[in-house]
Amino acid sequence: MSARDKLIVALDLPSAEAGLRMAEQLRGRVGMFKVGLENFTAEGPVLVRFLVAVGEKVFLDLKLHDIPNTVRAAARQAAQLGVQMFNVHASGGRKMMEAALAGAHEGSAGRGAGLRPLVLAVTVLTSLAGEDLTELGISGSAEEAVVRLARLAQQVGLDGVVASPREVAALRQALGPGFTIVTPGIRPASAATDDQARIATPGSAIRAGADYLVVGRPITEAPGPGAAADAIVAEMENALRPA
Ligand code: C5P
Repeated sequence: MSARDKLIVALDLPSAEAGLRMAEQLRGRVGMFKVGLENFTAEGPVLVRFLVAVGEKVFLDLKLHDIPNTVRAAARQAAQLGVQMFNVHASGGRKMMEAALAGAHEGSAGRGAGLRPLVLAVTVLTSLAGEDLTELGISGSAEEAVVRLARLAQQVGLDGVVASPREVAALRQALGPGFTIVTPGIRPASAATDDQARIATPGSAIRAGADYLVVGRPITEAPGPGAAADAIVAEMENALRPA
């Protein structure tokens, strides 16, 4: 996979039209587009359908968390939309994750073997820290909970996890090379940090073992989104080059 294939741009924009305009500027320069809760709540699958129709890869970031039957049905719909990856909360438990995988298979029937979307687990939201976890009855450190939930997701047969840059190295060590790690919280050295607290540069996240990087505002709010994406891809290429 090339550096460009590993870059996912978060289209966190309020309308499908704004998302489309941004995607048009970035087509051919990045590997995938992420559509999340804001855009999906406003517009439903309009943006996803458009991107898939023009041949773009889509990460549907809805972080599903419900009873297994409901998650299975939603996963089936996600697969039918033709997305490349979608995610569920690992804390929904083993049966819910199994249901997500089953739905992904069902919705991909006819696409050919191995062409179902990747199903990723969200472990502990990076917005939660020490006291929040205690309040929720989660014992141990956030890092321990992240690794525990990621291991469960791996046992169930999920394809990977979404993880903060700070967690990548420990997860790669615990889960081995075959498990996909998708990492948001990326800021080029020159960029503003926005509201991201645990950040890493594109190069350091790749070197720590991330497979895909999710980048939003440093690209979508740049004066030239295409050039900003190219600069991040160049930094990733450097990190991928053998020393
Ligand atoms: O604009 P920015 O680069 O911060 O966007 C990062 C994207 O990754 C957002 O869509 C955000 O919801 C998502 N994300 C995150 N941190 C997580 C999980 C997802 O920033 N732990």
